Amino acid sequence: MANENIPDIAAVRAVLERASRAPSLHNSQPWRWRWDGARAELHVDAERLLPATDMFNREGILGCGVVLHHAAVCWAAAGWDVRIARFPQPTVRAHVATLEPGHPHVPTEPDLHLGAAVDRRYSDRMPMDAPPGWSTTRQVLEHLGRRSDTTVTFLDSTEAPALHRISELATRLRRYDPRYQSELAWWASGPDHGSAGVPADVLPTALDRGHIPVGREFPSGTAEPADDADDAAMIAVLSTTGDSAADLLDCGTALSALLLECTVQDLSTCTVSHVVELPSARAMLAELVGQRHPQVLIRIGTARADPPPRTARRPVDSILDLS
Ligand SMILES: Cc1cc2nc3c(=O)[nH]c(=O)nc-3n(C[C@H](O)[C@H](O)[C@H](O)COP(=O)(O)O)c2cc1C
Repeated sequence: MANENIPDIAAVRAVLERASRAPSLHNSQPWRWRWDGARAELHVDAERLLPATDMFNREGILGCGVVLHHAAVCWAAAGWDVRIARFPQPTVRAHVATLEPGHPHVPTEPDLHLGAAVDRRYSDRMPMDAPPGWSTTRQVLEHLGRRSDTTVTFLDSTEAPALHRISELATRLRRYDPRYQSELAWWASGPDHGSAGVPADVLPTALDRGHIPVGREFPSGTAEPADDADDAAMIAVLSTTGDSAADLLDCGTALSALLLECTVQDLSTCTVSHVVELPSARAMLAELVGQRHPQVLIRIGTARADPPPRTARRPVDSILDLS
């Protein structure tokens, strides 16, 4: 007889498929799940790391932290409590977490809202308007940051020009890095039969890119903004006290929590990371925010343009091993 405290395979597939909406560097989806009949193990997929872009594999672990938090949100929205062990095998760093669902119940309204945010969230690379009621939202986001070991710092308007200079430096240094450029072109070409990567219809045209001085330079896309006004997005910088895999996993879960809360508040977001990938640019950012280990940034604002087409994800069967 089936154990009612353990979800069936259909529920496992549905939750992990929903959680795979998690954002990741260039939509690389660097994760794999293994379901052992009672627990879901989350592993880094070493074949989906980007060594030229993310030379220390920081963003690979960050992405796993994001999908870990997304999965916890999706289990809760499906009415399951979930116990999480991070790095349960201390000597196996690729095994980043194990999730054990149990105690089925009727999901709460906040759980359902967050679950819906997983479905709605997308990366908005267009200019944004300033978010309304920002001081309250900012406090909520700072509060969410304090529930993790990750520090959330917001840049004010006097710091923005310095960030623009750091972004420009990172962009120009990367122009002469053929390994970086070919990785970027590969992930923008829709690998895996179009189920991964960043498609042209979510990327701004060459002309529009100039309006986002802190955006990564992708190959030109086809998405055109509603108008050409300058970007008024707020910038959050997520930093950690150390640079270990545990710090990065924690930061990934905080990134996910912030992105989903913004989505619940009908705010648009875009994760930004090119400014932390090169040691020289990262050191300048560290000085700007007064934090030793900045890991990732988020642009937060109100969308001016309609959402772009949804980026695709790999089918759940290709990320889930059943044993
Ligand atoms: C760790 C990390 C780093 C990212 N860096 C960038 C970036 O530098 N620039 C950017 O436009 N998007 C960045 N993204 C967003 C991804 O490109 C995006 O999540 C992915 O293409 C899937 O699209 P979606 O977010 O619309 O679902 C990043 C996401 C993550 C999780």
